[in-house]
Amino acid sequence: MLNKADSNAVWFIVLALVFFAIGGLLTTVAPPLIDKSWAAPFSNSDPSKGLTGQLRPLTELEQRGRAIYVREGCWYCHTQQTRTLLADTKRSGWRGVDSPVSTPDEFVYDSPHLFGTKRTGPDLSRVGGKYDTQWHRTHFRNPRDLVPGSIMPPYPWIANNESEFQAIVAYLQTLGRAKNWRPENDYEK
Ligand code: HEC
Repeated sequence: MLNKADSNAVWFIVLALVFFAIGGLLTTVAPPLIDKSWAAPFSNSDPSKGLTGQLRPLTELEQRGRAIYVREGCWYCHTQQTRTLLADTKRSGWRGVDSPVSTPDEFVYDSPHLFGTKRTGPDLSRVGGKYDTQWHRTHFRNPRDLVPGSIMPPYPWIANNESEFQAIVAYLQTLGRAKNWRPENDYEK
């Protein structure tokens, strides 16, 4: 049968589609059907470990911020997924503590998701609580004032529009917060 696909285009296309479907079903459709925890919002309230993480839906303000994030194309340059790589968990870490890897249960309310594909800027999946509001205002006004040589464009129309600014910062501060993984819940506001 595989020999035939070498010389016959119709066989080739049919077999390619069959293998493609098997791959898709096994790796993307079957796992969430079998393991229901993938679709359940993240929850970890084990106080003995100091963990009180809980995923919640975004508030109205945070949702407006998310819409601005989409409108401005922040996701062209920023991903929102901490991969299993050391480089990721260190980069997203906090004062010497590595950040946890992203898991599906953190994205249950994130639709359509903003995982992104291109890391022109750093990953933002754990940026919530990393900087305070004043930092974000200065950064939106002109990133190079804080990070010399930054190639992130300035967004003065966000920094100078109080309602949009409050919304997008509220959204950014939610990113990666569900797991509450930082020691002593050490977050900037
Ligand atoms: C052209 C690519 C590009 C776009 C578009 C972009 N950024 Fe950035 N961003 C970067 C780069 C590069 C950095 C790293 C240097 C810096 O901090 O300025 C960065 C850094 C950041 C940081 C700090 C991350 C950290 O961990 O230090 C935040 C927060 C951020 N960007 C948010 C945004 C938001 C929100 C938008 C949309 C309004 C946006 N960015 C659009 C490239 C981009």
